[in-house]
Amino acid sequence: MVVALICGGGNGAHVCAGIAASQPGVEARVLTLFADEAERWTKAMACNDFVVTVNSKGKAPTELKAKPTVVSKKAADVMSGVDIIVLMVPAFAHTGYLEELKPLMKPGMVLVGCPGQAGFEFAVRGILGDLARHVSLLSFESLPWACRMLEFGKKSEVLATKGSLTGALQLGDPAPAVDPTAMLQQVLGEAPKLITKGHLLGITLMGTNGYLHPSIMFGFWSHWDGKPLEQSPLFYNGVDRFSAGVLSSVSDEVVAIAKAVMQQRPQVDLNNVTHIVDWYRRCYANDITDPTDLYSCIQTNNAYNGLTHPCEQTSNGRFVPNYRYRYLTEDIPFGLVVMRGIATLAGVATPSMDKVITWAQGCLGKEYLVGDQLTGKDIPATRCPQAYNLPCLDTILGLA
Ligand code: NAI
Repeated sequence: MVVALICGGGNGAHVCAGIAASQPGVEARVLTLFADEAERWTKAMACNDFVVTVNSKGKAPTELKAKPTVVSKKAADVMSGVDIIVLMVPAFAHTGYLEELKPLMKPGMVLVGCPGQAGFEFAVRGILGDLARHVSLLSFESLPWACRMLEFGKKSEVLATKGSLTGALQLGDPAPAVDPTAMLQQVLGEAPKLITKGHLLGITLMGTNGYLHPSIMFGFWSHWDGKPLEQSPLFYNGVDRFSAGVLSSVSDEVVAIAKAVMQQRPQVDLNNVTHIVDWYRRCYANDITDPTDLYSCIQTNNAYNGLTHPCEQTSNGRFVPNYRYRYLTEDIPFGLVVMRGIATLAGVATPSMDKVITWAQGCLGKEYLVGDQLTGKDIPATRCPQAYNLPCLDTILGLA
């Protein structure tokens, strides 16, 4: 029997709890720290089924009816005998879970960030300290599904399941008796096929949202004349050549970071860190009409149809940018600043990232960069290595 603890109370956590509970040989438990979610979820399940509807193209939907054995707000209620912990929440919520779990975590456990998002392993090492070496870490690039919760604590839905999901594994000492990737596969069932390769830092550097969203925001709004617009502009399909150029330069810097790390630590495999244009051609092969270059990949990506810039409406019905949206509030401290922090330790110059961060921190009223140094007062609230006093490449790579 594998005992799986799913952390979170949102779309992903609902679906994961139901899918895991319905797998043979798996006991699913849930820890949700946010507000009164644990209480509400427990109450909702007491006199209702817990249902996950799984849709898949060309097939009739299937309904899974299986409940997690316990949902709690306290780690002490759910941690006994746990083999694998799956964090399935936005990155900004990871710290709370790691702090709550730390006193009850044991050597040999498996800890999964699904998605891990940029800097997952830095948060784990910074918060767990020495214990991090004794835990096997898995970080995945995304959620296994496109999914949504329909009724809290009762019903959720898988809209689509990814064919495969890429991640990376760092084995702890002691390693668990069962391979961690196989253990997670048992918890999630057959699909998606989990593929782990390369170093965890590769997943951090391929946290593409962390530079995609801020670069497009910068490209569009840094030259805005301040006059409210007639409508919210298209975010992706309306991208211009300047914004695509900014994004391409930032992505060049990310690839340069990976190359510099591999040059300095040849045992570290970051070969899956690619330019974002290759990422687009790979991930959206069926959605892009014209894959010629980065600009055309974004402009003609049908998966993005209709998605607009985050805007607020003025009293006379016009539109101005909303800088409080996650494209800056999350993707700067949990994305671009993380990349910038790694660049510092790898000795890579990042003029394009610096332009975007400097503009964004002004919009957010935060301070990350001071000149070209990551010493701003808001660094501790980010996930860059410097926030956790991880001072060199060996510490961020888990080699020290
Ligand atoms: P979600 O938006 O449903 O997560 C909300 C949950 O996060 C809340 O129910 C609560 O448990 C927790 N939370 C919210 N605010 C909190 C706070 N201040 N403190 C502590 N916990 C808090 O997230 P979802 O949809 O489950 O996605 C998880 C991650 O996966 C996100 O990073 C999302 O971008 C990513 N993702 C989601 C996909 C989807 O289809 N839902 C697809 C691909 C990626």
